[in-house]
Amino acid sequence: MSEGISQPDQPQPIEAHAGDKDLFSKFDDIIALREGLLSQGREDPFNLVMEKVLSPTRAICNGRETILLGTYNYMGMTFDPDVVEAGKQALADFGTGTTGSRVLNGTYQGHKECEEALRDFYQMDHAMVFSTGYQANLGIISTIAGKGDYIVLDIDSHASIWDGCAMGQAEVVPFKHNDIEAMEKRLKRIPEGAGKLVILEGVYSMLGDIAPLKEMVAIAKKYGAMVLVDEAHSMGFIGENGRGVVEDAGVIDDVDFIIGTFSKSVGTVGGFCVSNHPKFEIMRLVCRPYVFTASLPPSVVATAATSIRKLMHGSNKRAHLWENSKNLHKGLRDLGFKLGTDEPQSAIIAVIMPDLEKGAHMWETLIRNGLYVNLARPPATPAGMTLLRCSLCAEHSEEEVGQILEIFEKSGKETGII
Ligand SMILES: Cc1ncc(COP(=O)(O)O)c(C=O)c1O
Repeated sequence: MSEGISQPDQPQPIEAHAGDKDLFSKFDDIIALREGLLSQGREDPFNLVMEKVLSPTRAICNGRETILLGTYNYMGMTFDPDVVEAGKQALADFGTGTTGSRVLNGTYQGHKECEEALRDFYQMDHAMVFSTGYQANLGIISTIAGKGDYIVLDIDSHASIWDGCAMGQAEVVPFKHNDIEAMEKRLKRIPEGAGKLVILEGVYSMLGDIAPLKEMVAIAKKYGAMVLVDEAHSMGFIGENGRGVVEDAGVIDDVDFIIGTFSKSVGTVGGFCVSNHPKFEIMRLVCRPYVFTASLPPSVVATAATSIRKLMHGSNKRAHLWENSKNLHKGLRDLGFKLGTDEPQSAIIAVIMPDLEKGAHMWETLIRNGLYVNLARPPATPAGMTLLRCSLCAEHSEEEVGQILEIFEKSGKETGII
């Protein structure tokens, strides 16, 4: 470019001012925490890669054959031949995706069949499928409880529940985890005539404990509140027909909404809400996380529908999963680990670590010894705990549970945790 010839205006970089705030500065603490862990040469617990998945219970992870004990694949449906075949057939017949919202071009025969399978599974009048369980909570909660309404919920509720509450802008009144009296106290204080929604979970996924639903649902009804129960971690496993803690506690007919996910026992992705409320179908027009997003691909709803129908006949698998849960819980306790519950209450067993550093060390030792579990830390965990969360699968053999215990023993000794 020769000097003296005037050039058209070039865009100039905008100068930063000394007082400007970097919007990322709010993440500095977590960046420092992560860098601190990784600088010690640790494998990153939040960046595991599964290079090959061999079965619901085994995969090649970070180059090693690994037993999977942290996948929430409770009923092991991900490799069920009928489920896989249904997905392949739908892919061939309907293509890779719907490219549209359920209320426009995104409702295929498969979405209707999936909702029918859910109605049959829960014996309920209405079922609505969302693209994820997160969106099911976000959508249903924010749509039914708005400004001027009250939501009474357990303080340990899942992030998707909290986000649904925030989006709807109702008054949110949390109570201490699983505390029946505290819940009643909150309900008592709500002004008369206000809309009330009580939100509970069947199984709380951090510690693997269940809610006292019989008592809590009775109290909610006494105060005229609607009740929503998130059964993400119990569907398919808990209750005679796998309908969840609501079934086991005998309150399924008293709850207004059950929320669930396809990403755990069902073995794919997606979320749902079932209900007997006579006006429930209006949700399809007013619930923004249902309307303003693309629907699930046909292969996904086909696998979900097939899996849900098979789960109706899953009593042998349910019995085996309970055996696994009891054996692992007893084995870990006998080895001297501190657990989240005194007795096994679900397919989740949480091993409590002394602190994050020791927890990350134990996680890494387990993975190097061939076992994958979830490392959970605050703020996701209650009371600032660091947990190694183990979720069992109905496809874990008795022998595999034995191997899992051997790896825990070896790793616990190597790290000095036991
Ligand atoms: C209690 C609970 N609800 C909802 C969800 C969201 O499910 P999804 O994975 O389908 O978004 C989860 C997922 O971890 C969960 O644990």
